[in-house]
Amino acid sequence: MGNGMTDDLFATLAERFGKRPAQPRSMDNPEGWHALAGRGSCRAFLPEPLESALIETLCALALCAPTKSDLQQRDIIIVEDDALRRRLDALLTEGPLGQAWIAKAPHLLVFCANNRRQRLLHDWRGKAFANDHLDAFYNAALDAGIAMAQFMVAAEAAGLGCCPISAIRNEADTVSALLGLPQHVFPAVALALGRPATPPKQSFRLPLSVTLHRDRYHEDGLPDSVTAYDERRAAAQPYAGQRYTEDFGQASRYGWSEDKARQYAKPERAEFGNFVRKAGFRLD
Ligand SMILES: Cc1cc2nc3c(=O)[nH]c(=O)nc-3n(C[C@H](O)[C@H](O)[C@H](O)COP(=O)(O)O)c2cc1C
Repeated sequence: MGNGMTDDLFATLAERFGKRPAQPRSMDNPEGWHALAGRGSCRAFLPEPLESALIETLCALALCAPTKSDLQQRDIIIVEDDALRRRLDALLTEGPLGQAWIAKAPHLLVFCANNRRQRLLHDWRGKAFANDHLDAFYNAALDAGIAMAQFMVAAEAAGLGCCPISAIRNEADTVSALLGLPQHVFPAVALALGRPATPPKQSFRLPLSVTLHRDRYHEDGLPDSVTAYDERRAAAQPYAGQRYTEDFGQASRYGWSEDKARQYAKPERAEFGNFVRKAGFRLD
C-alpha cells in the first residue's frame, strides 16, 4: 500500500467533507477508494458512442448489485432507437425544467422498478399477492436505485462518465408509453452515459458531523454546520446562477441551503404519486 495514495485519498475526502476523516490503520485498496472519493457526475461528453457490448457488460455488473429478498425487481432499458431517443430527449430537454445537456449524451438508459414479475409469479403459482401496499413500490424503487449506483461505480471505474436523471419521471406516463412499460413497472431514474469531455468535478458534501451518526440520530449544531458548509462551498464552488430570482430576488450570499430551499419552494413531479397509483401501486 503506497502512503502517497493514502494521503491522496484522505486529502480528497478532507476536501469533500471539509475535515479529514479518521484514517484506518490499514487499507487494502486506497487507489480504488481514491477514485470513489474523487468521482463526480458527468454532464459533458465526447460524441463517440460506446461499444454496445461494453454497455451490456455494465448492465450485467449493475444487475449483480444486491436486491431485496432476491426479488430482482429492477430492469434496465438501453435506448438504442434514434427516433425514440429524440422523443425522450424532447421530454427531458424542453420546458422550464428542461436540461439541454442531456441531448448530447451519447447514451441514455432507463432504470425501471419492476414489481410486475413478482405479481406474475403469484398468478403462475396460484398464490395471492398479500403485499399490495407501499412496500411493493418502495422495494422495487430501491432495487432500481441500487442497480443504477452499481452501474455508475462500474462505469466510472472504467473512466466513463454518467449522470443520473430524475427528470425521466417529470412526465412518467408519456415515458412509460414510449417505453412500453406495463402496469407495476415504472421509470425510476435514467442515466446519461459516455466518455467524459472533461474530468469530473468533486462537489462538496455536508460534513460527516451532520450526516454520520453513532448509535443515535442527532442534530447537534446543525444550523451552524449548514452555514459553515454554505460558506465553504460558496467560496470554492459558487453556483453559476441563482434559482428563481423573479420570486426570491438576488441573494448577496447564495449557498447550498438557499439553493435547495429555492428549488423545493416550487413543486417538482407533483403528479408522480398519481402516476404511480395509475401504474397499479397501492401506496398505503
Ligand atoms: C436519483 C438521482 C437523480 C438525479 N437527477 C439529476 C438530473 O435530473 N439532472 C442532473 O443534472 N443531475 C441529476 N442527478 C445528479 C445530482 O445532481 C448529483 O449527484 C449531485 O449534484 C451531486 O453531484 P455529484 O454526483 O457530482 O457528486 C441526480 C442524482 C440522483 C442520485
